[in-house]
Amino acid sequence: MIAIGSDHGGFELKEKIKKHLEDRGLEYRDYGTFSDASVDYPTYGIAVGEAVARGECEKGILVCGTGIGISIAANKVKGVRAACCSDTFSARYTRMHNDANIICMGGRVVGPGLAIDIVDLFLDTPFEGGRHQRRIDMITEYENKK
Ligand code: RB5
Repeated sequence: MIAIGSDHGGFELKEKIKKHLEDRGLEYRDYGTFSDASVDYPTYGIAVGEAVARGECEKGILVCGTGIGISIAANKVKGVRAACCSDTFSARYTRMHNDANIICMGGRVVGPGLAIDIVDLFLDTPFEGGRHQRRIDMITEYENKK
């Protein structure tokens, strides 16, 4: 199950990504927003972050205007590794090296074609483990101290 969410700045792109997930036969849960009316991005970043951190969803997709605000919000949830990406190289490597569990994009930054390539790389690229696991463990250890 994939968690998906956006604010108004990402609403249109979120709907296009949902259609793509449906075309791929992938199940998702939409945490809103459900229209292009102005809302606050932390609501959706935290909701998707919590769904992933609780294990209800394996991965998350978030969209706001830039992808930045909603990634900052999601990254406040313990256990979340949310990566804001506008290119395919970063999308691939944030899975291989960071084991990112949420991808964030800007609906005002990337077009729908690029966004869908980014989503596919995020969903399909495995984590490499090895030395990268040690680095993630350092982040988790810091989180657990708080
Ligand atoms: C909303 O106008 C905009 O600030 C938001 O979508 C996002 O870009 C924040 O980082």
